Amino acid sequence: MRSLPNARELITALDLEQHVEGGYFRRTFQSDRHPMVATERGQRYLMTSIYYLLTQDSPIGYFHFNQSDIVHYYHLGDAIQYSLIFPDGTLQTVVMGSDVVAGQCLQLHVPGGIWKASQIIDGPAGYGLISEAVSPGFDYADMEMSDRQKLTAEFPQHAALIEKMTQG
Ligand code: GUN
Repeated sequence: MRSLPNARELITALDLEQHVEGGYFRRTFQSDRHPMVATERGQRYLMTSIYYLLTQDSPIGYFHFNQSDIVHYYHLGDAIQYSLIFPDGTLQTVVMGSDVVAGQCLQLHVPGGIWKASQIIDGPAGYGLISEAVSPGFDYADMEMSDRQKLTAEFPQHAALIEKMTQG
């Protein structure tokens, strides 16, 4: 039986590129058989989908804010910890992974309007691979990368986490 691929092999096999959020991705689907959806910021696909990979050399998906709803599906490798900051300042931590008996999630739904960051948990694979389905479809105009100072000013109670999960 073939052993698990390493991170480089996965990046090549899935044809992934670096993401501004950290990690690697490739868009795999956009719903171009359906009418576009009108949003406040313009026309969007009904849904888009990507592969998203975190690795030991790019282990963090930095805090960013999406207008769209996103369903995450866990695939392979080590577990990934998600940190979600809600508008009222509530912090929710969720671990995606295959150990469902221990409470890890195979699916994670993150509604629009939430700050999200993710981090690979150290493990034997050296990477964690998920997919995301985004609706309305992803557009950079609907995504905001975090500014460390601004986010810390908004949520000072999470300053240490924000320091770790934003680009300096
Ligand atoms: N994040 C979630 N979906 C997408 C996408 O389609 N493109 C990019 N660049 N980032 C995403």
